[in-house]
Amino acid sequence: MLLQNDDDLRTQNEIDLGFQEDVLAGLARRPRSISPRWFYDLRGSEIFEEITQLPEYYPTRTELGILAAAAPEIASIVGPGRSVVEFGSGSSTKTPIILSAVSPSSYVPIDISGEFLGASANAIRDKFPGLLVNAIAGDFTKPLDIPRASDGILRLGFFPGSTIGNFVPSEAADLLRAMAATLGSGAMLLIGIDRVKDRDVLIAAYDDSRGVTAAFNLNLLERINRELSGTIPVEDFRHLIRWNERESRIEMHLQARRDVRFEVAGRSFRIDDGETIHTENSIKYPIHDARHLLDTSGWDPIADWTDERQYFSLILAKSKQ
Ligand code: SAH
Ligand code: AVI
Repeated sequence: MLLQNDDDLRTQNEIDLGFQEDVLAGLARRPRSISPRWFYDLRGSEIFEEITQLPEYYPTRTELGILAAAAPEIASIVGPGRSVVEFGSGSSTKTPIILSAVSPSSYVPIDISGEFLGASANAIRDKFPGLLVNAIAGDFTKPLDIPRASDGILRLGFFPGSTIGNFVPSEAADLLRAMAATLGSGAMLLIGIDRVKDRDVLIAAYDDSRGVTAAFNLNLLERINRELSGTIPVEDFRHLIRWNERESRIEMHLQARRDVRFEVAGRSFRIDDGETIHTENSIKYPIHDARHLLDTSGWDPIADWTDERQYFSLILAKSKQ
C-alpha cells in the first residue's frame, strides 16, 4: 500500500468495513443491488483504465478533447492560485490539462481506490515538481477531512468522467450540495456530464466486443470472494446491460445463469436463475437537465463546452454560497 500515514490507514479500514456492510445488505434486499463504488479495488481500477482505451467507450477521449480545447478559456475564468480538489481522480489522466491551465496552489485528489490513488498522486508529483499534492483515500459521499485551504485561497472542484451519472438524481443533488459546502464560498466546480445519444452507441460503450466491461462488472463478485470469504460461482453470472429510456440511464446488472447458492462473510444466499444484481446506473443528461441539476444543488452554471458530436458536456459552475 502506498498509504502514507495512520490517518490514511484509518480511512482505508473504514472503507473496508463499509464494503462488507453494503454487500450483505445489497444481496439481501429486493431487487438486489450493490453500489458501483465497490467496483474499484486495485484490479477494478486497472480494468476501468482498459475501458477508457476501448474504441466503443467514447466518454474519456471525448472529454479529454473538450478539456484541451477549453483549457485557455477555463484558465481565464478560474484564474491562478486555487486549490484543485478532484473527486474520483482515478488515474488522474485528465488532471495535467487542468493543472497546467490554472496554475494551482495545491492539488487534492480523492479516491476510494487507495492503492491506485497513491500511484496516480505520485505520477502528478513527478510531472509537477513543487506542487503540493495531498491525496485522500476515502469515500467522497461521506464527510472527509479535506486539508484547510490557507486564508484567501479559493478552491476549484474537478469532477470529470461523468461519475455524477453513477448517482440517481436525488443522490447527485445531495452530493453536489455537499461539495459546495466542502469547497467553501467563492468555489468553482468543473464537471463532466455525459449526454443522451443514439441507443446503440450507448449500449456498445457498456457492452464492448472484447468483454472488458463484462470483466469490470464480474470483478465485483471476484472482489467479494477475495475480501469477504465469498464462495460465489462467478462463472454462473453474466454481464447484462439495459438502456432504461424512462430514467435516461444505462443499467449494468449481473444476471444468474442458473439457480445459485453461496456464502459471503458467513451468511448464506440463494439467487434464482435469471435474477439480477443491479450494479450500476450511468445516467445521461441533456445539457438543459445537467444545468438544472447544478442550479438546484447550490451551483450556478457559468459556462459549458461540448464536442462536435455533442456527446459530452463540460460545465463550469460557481458556488452560490
Ligand atoms: N476521474 C477519472 C476516473 C473516473 S472512474 C476519469 O475521469 O476517467 C470513477 C472514479 O471514482 C474511480 O477512480 C473510483 O475509484 C472513484 N470513485 C467512485 N465512487 C467513489 C466514491 N464514492 N468516493 C471516492 N471515489 C469514488
Ligand atoms: C466512472 N463511470 C462514470 C463510468 C460510467 O461510464 O458510468 C463507469 C463505467 N461503467 C462501465 N463502464 C464504465
